[in-house]
Parts: sequence; C-alpha cells; structure tokens
Amino acid sequence: MTRSLGVCYYPEHWPETQWPEDAARMAASGLTWVRIGEFAWSRLEPALGKLDFDWLDRAIDVLGRAGLKVVLGTPTATPPRWMLDRHPDMLAVDAAGRPRKFGSRRHYCFSHRGYLAECKRIVTLLAERYGANPHVAAWQTDNEYGCHDTILSYSDAARAAFRDWLAQRYQSPDALNRAWGNVFWSMEYSGFDQIDLPNLTVTEANPAHVMDFRRFASDQVVAFNRAQVDILRRYTRAPVAHNYMGRITEFDHYAVGADLDIASWDSYPIGFLSDRLEATDAHKVDFLRQGDPDFQAFHHDLYRAVGRGRWWVMEQQPGPVNWAPYNPAPLPGMVRLWTWEAFAHGAEAVLYFRWRQAPFGQEQMHAGLLRSDSEPAPGLAEAETVARELADAPMAQAAPVDVALVFDYASAWAWDTQPQGADFDYFRLCFAWYRALRRMGLNIDIISPDTDDLSQWKLVLAPGLFTLPDTLRAALPSCSGAVVFGPRANSRRPDFSIPPDLGPSLPGLDARVARVESLPPGSALPLVNGGQFVHWAEELEGKAEVVLLREDNRAAMVRAGGLYYLGGWPSDATLFSILSDLCAAQGIATRDLPSALRTRSDGKSRFWFNHGASALEWEGLHLPPASMLRVPA
Ligand code: GAL
Repeated sequence: MTRSLGVCYYPEHWPETQWPEDAARMAASGLTWVRIGEFAWSRLEPALGKLDFDWLDRAIDVLGRAGLKVVLGTPTATPPRWMLDRHPDMLAVDAAGRPRKFGSRRHYCFSHRGYLAECKRIVTLLAERYGANPHVAAWQTDNEYGCHDTILSYSDAARAAFRDWLAQRYQSPDALNRAWGNVFWSMEYSGFDQIDLPNLTVTEANPAHVMDFRRFASDQVVAFNRAQVDILRRYTRAPVAHNYMGRITEFDHYAVGADLDIASWDSYPIGFLSDRLEATDAHKVDFLRQGDPDFQAFHHDLYRAVGRGRWWVMEQQPGPVNWAPYNPAPLPGMVRLWTWEAFAHGAEAVLYFRWRQAPFGQEQMHAGLLRSDSEPAPGLAEAETVARELADAPMAQAAPVDVALVFDYASAWAWDTQPQGADFDYFRLCFAWYRALRRMGLNIDIISPDTDDLSQWKLVLAPGLFTLPDTLRAALPSCSGAVVFGPRANSRRPDFSIPPDLGPSLPGLDARVARVESLPPGSALPLVNGGQFVHWAEELEGKAEVVLLREDNRAAMVRAGGLYYLGGWPSDATLFSILSDLCAAQGIATRDLPSALRTRSDGKSRFWFNHGASALEWEGLHLPPASMLRVPA
C-alpha cells in the first residue's frame, strides 16, 4: 500500500494566473493529491442551465500537468442561491420548525426530491465531462454529511417521505401501533397520513417513533449518497469517497460506506478537544495545543472499518482553526505527528486543509499551509518533512490486531432518544473503552455490529449495544477468546420495547438486568476491589459465575465460559484494570502507558507518539515534545 500526501484547494478563490505557481509549489512540497470543486456550484452553474465548466477544465489541466492527482468533489453541499428560487421548500427545517436559511452551507433537506434531481443533474454533467479525465484520480461525494447538525430535518418533504417509509416498513397502521406501543397515552393511528414527525410534541415523543425517525433519516442519507455514486460509476473507474467528520453519529456510516470505495474523514484534533469531547479542564489544558491523544486514533480505526480497509484523512488541521470556542495553535511537531499517526493506523493518504488561508468568507481565520499572503505557514514545513520521511519508510503490512470494539450507530440513536441519565452517551461510553485499550498500547479494530465472523480477535468488546443483531449472535462462538458485553447491551428489541426475556439475554449466560440506575456526578458506586461504577449501574440476577462484586455484594460482572457481561459504567481507572485482566486472561500482552504516550504497530514498524508538551522518557525510549518515533516492529 502506498502512502501519500495532498491538500485541499479552491482554484475559484484565486486568480487563474496564480494556479500554475500554486500547483508547482504543491508538487515541490511533496504533495501528490489536490482536492477541488466541492463548493464550486455557483461558479459551475451561475444561473440555472447556464454552465461554465471551462475554468474547471483549465484548473484540472494545470494541476494535472504539475504532476498532481485530482480528487474532484461533487458540489452538492453548497446549492447556489438561484436554487432556492426554484425550490423554495428545499431547506431543512430544525426541530423548532424554523427553516435553516441560505447564507452558509449544507442548506438542504435530504428528503427534497426536487433538490435530489438537481444534484443528479449536476453530478451527471461533471461525471460525463471528467469521468475519464486522466488527472481525476478519485471523487468525493458532497461534503461532510451531518456537519452543522444537518441530518434531521422536520420539513414537509421529510414528513411525506417518512410516511412512505413507515408504510413500507409496517404495511398497516395496526402493525405500527403494536410495534410502537401506541395504546400508551392513546397515541394510536388509523392511517399513515396521520403520522407527523416527532418534533414539537408537548412532552417527549414516543421513543419508538423517534427511533424510526432516526432510522429513516439515516436511510435518506444513504439514498442521497447512492444516487450520486450510481451516476459516477457509469462514467468513471476512479475510486469514490466521502469525507466524514469526527463524532457524528446521526447516520449509519457503514451503510453509506458500503456504496463507496474509500472512507475519508476530516481530522481537526485541537478543534475537537475543545468542541467535541467530555474531559476534565486539566486534560484540556494538558493537550491544548496537541488535541486528545485518542480521539483521532478512534476515528482512524472507525473509518478503516467504514472503508472496509481503504481510508484517508481528506482534511488534516495544519494550524489554528476558526470554529472552536478557542483556537490555539498546534505545538511545533504536531502536524507531523498527526500525519504519521494516520499512516500508522493504515491511512492511504492525508490531505491538509487547506493550501492557502482565505482572506474572505467565514474561514478567514483558519490556517492553511500558506498564509493568505502566500508566505509559508508553519504547517508547510512539517508536511514537507513527512513527505521526505515517507520516501524511506517501509510499507505497512497487515497489522496484527487482537482486540475489536463494536461500534453501532443505531445504539447511538437509541440512547440519545432515551438516555435515562444525563451522562449516558453511547459515543462517550465506547470512547472510554477505546481509550483504556489504547493506554494498554494495543492495536484495536473497530467493527460493525453486523460482523459475522469474530475468529480473528482474541477479545471482542460490545458496551451499550442496543440490540444484539442475529448475525453477531450467531458469530459469538467463532471468537476463540472472550466476548464482553457492557451496560445496556441487548436490553431492547429493535422496536424499542423491553423484551420479555430481560437483557442481556446472551446464549448460555444466566443473567438478567433486574433494575438500572443512573448516577449523577459525585455519586460513584463502589466495587469490592477498590474500583467504582460511575454514570450507570445495574442490578443483575441469575446464576452466572460472578467475577466482580460491588461493595453491596451484588454482581458487577458475570460470565459463562468466554462470554462476559459487565453491569455498569466503570470509572476510567476501573475500566483499565478490568480490561487489563481480560487481556491477560487471553494472553494479550499489555502496557501501562503514560497519558501522553501512544503506540501502534503496522506490521513493519512500531510507531511511538508523544502527544505531550514535555519530553518523555519511558522504558528506554526518549521522545521530545510533540514527536513521533518509528522503530522496526
Ligand atoms: C470541515 C469542512 C471544510 C472546512 C473545515 C474547516 O468541516 O469540510 O470545508 O470548513 O472544516 O476546519
């Protein structure tokens, strides 16, 4: 597998006379890829049917002749202003019933058929023109589905499509009433056309109604993306990608990914630390200019699964961003570290966002590899360093991975719909388990809940899994080691109801969750070994072997052979100790890394990353601040 670098570029932002010099500088810096086009609709089609693709022909030509490979984006994340005159009802509507207006981006509802037809039209025009262009070596659909909270829309178009979706799923209102439990509060319907979207209800809407709306909304994204991919496939053999974001769980990324060749994501470590992560103030201060040491890695491993092995970073933070509450500058060394960490996890390409800082528009304060005056910004030299280092680095092999963590989007929707405690967040739960494994220095695979063969892992973990899909249930015996389910796992049926056999209902494990409680901050529940449950605890009954006790003498974790159930949310230290013991029992060697030190092996090399702001000495290793060290595996 080759590894390469690239950059995001907006030729439409700069005079054409500037393009050749930009392209030459990119190539001279060691960049291979240049992503363009994803926001350019108003320049491609300034008025309905008035097309101007000539400038894009020339831009692709200039970039390609400089030796760069182009990733061409479809421009559907930014419909131009005239589109609204044509389709005034195409805007998404927020939960309060307000249209989300023109003036930024992503201002469309996934269910609007007229807008979908416009998207198909522009994608067809682009695909016809560039599908066989030798410089266009990859495509990107739209841009960051779900960014700016844009999956759920409460528009008229969404309501009509939701009714159709429900009619197909349930066939009759009676079946829907039964599945949703609509006898409760006299919520029964006698026709699908009576069913509204689950917003603006007096108090909370029926969770079964909300859950189906969430499934529907995800399906709309899959269909929207597939419509573009189907067109592209007719005209090009180049791989098709989408660039996902960090910690977006509103749609099923595996389902979107199934239609694509490459999963890519946009990595903004410092923005994410302040914007998207539960962490103590001390942690946020310690990693202010580096980002969280595990957040990017989690997404690298997640998108490796979404891309079925093929994944990129389509946008890598190169300096301060503009969109977080505070926007510190990365420590010297971090741009190199982030880039290498992606490669260590198997990325094929890392592209920086963006080439030159824009002197206008919403992102004026967002760094690029160049400053707005075209002088190099600090990130450029680090990208050039990586480009040189790549030339000498051995290619990765299939990395050995002993541990897998199941990550399931439907579980995120379910516990968002009914958290039962303000701190029960599915991403947060999975991320805590992931972080504990990373601290042990392990390679980790993230896997979908539909995985049908677990034989390659010694330890498989599934905290918080809403329902246990039949495929995964059937695959349990294929795991030669241990499978560990965590709090709330398999506690509901797909229709959201509590099953007659109380969860976790795992084959051969005599354990039932008799009662649950959520725990506010400061009310941890003690375990006998000095550990504690935080946020969430369950009372278990049944005759399964107890392997961990609470101080009140109730079971905290039980097992039958290699199948375990953990009935609570352990504190970070407790989780580290539980998972370390489980690894030891499976013969998986673990470490206990300092909070800033992380490692991964790619089969050929072992990479060490010091995410800290100070130098680090650890077991004979010496790592300067914000640095990466590569040694033979
Ligand atoms: C991403 C987006 C880019 C740019 C960038 C700024 O979310 O895809 O277009 O806005 O953030 O950090």
